Amino acid sequence: MAEHKKVRKAVFPVAGLGTRFLPATKAVPKEMLTVVDKPIIQYVVDEALEAGIEHFVFVTGRNKHIIEDYFDIHFELEQTLRERSKNAEITLLAGQLPKAGTVSFTRQQEPLGLGHAVWCAREIIGDEPFALLLPDMIMKSEAKGCMKGMIDLYAQSGGNIIAVEECAPDQAHKYGIVGVGDAIGDGFRITGMVEKPAKGTAPSNFFINGRYILQPEVFKILETQERGAGNEIQLTDGIAALMRDERVLAYRYAGQRYDCGSKLGYLQATAAIGLKHPETAEGFRASLAGLLEGRGLA
Ligand code: UTP
Repeated sequence: MAEHKKVRKAVFPVAGLGTRFLPATKAVPKEMLTVVDKPIIQYVVDEALEAGIEHFVFVTGRNKHIIEDYFDIHFELEQTLRERSKNAEITLLAGQLPKAGTVSFTRQQEPLGLGHAVWCAREIIGDEPFALLLPDMIMKSEAKGCMKGMIDLYAQSGGNIIAVEECAPDQAHKYGIVGVGDAIGDGFRITGMVEKPAKGTAPSNFFINGRYILQPEVFKILETQERGAGNEIQLTDGIAALMRDERVLAYRYAGQRYDCGSKLGYLQATAAIGLKHPETAEGFRASLAGLLEGRGLA
């Protein structure tokens, strides 16, 4: 089997405006909103760590500096915790931090779209394949994580890989949809891509879920790409152009996905994770039952 260049780096585009979470996102980036006890971005970085990613590249924008602070050591806090012998908390803080020198930040100076945000990472990525994780999607799976499954498929196939899931046919107009070709391992060859197809015109029910493995050739395409839908530089348009010369496969993700960029998805993530967390599961279950049955909080 051919050796494929290892996927070592991951890009997290966190430069969006987060308008669906205004007014909160006036001061707090949506990626830093907390689901039970961790910010959304931590769940996404954990998924990348599980997949063996070694270098974490954040494309940030204005008002996102607390993401940099979050992925740094908080010296004064750790000193105070040590003085108070709070050893469990010290271990917890150390466990969530990627190793020194493995986190990079670059700025997207204007929010010109996801494709443009990815292009802003080109100098840090260089000439290697990279993972791309939309940082407002939390993936939770009983089996292996979404990015880990993609890396495993990549080890066999190489090329570009996009994670997909199936939606109800009447929901396809909300998503980026792919055309389905021959089956390959846990995935299939993608024959085409269309962003938010008009009702009844979608080539399949498989939608792009926010996880990608891309070859660096995509940067050359994004460099000269015209603005598309919403007057933004669209990643989907870039990958559609990449497909003319490169193989693009779909990885079928079977776990759960929470779109924390939307209010409902964020609440669903909070409920699902809160119902499993050892400190909250029992009390939260009782409270939810009480609320749903009109008895009030238990
Ligand atoms: P969204 O479409 O969710 O946009 O972007 P948004 O601005 O974050 O949120 P809303 O729709 O206004 O509520 C998908 C991902 O792409 C990033 C976002 O940070 C988000 O993680 N993004 C989007 C950028 O980094 N730059 C952009 O110009 C656009």
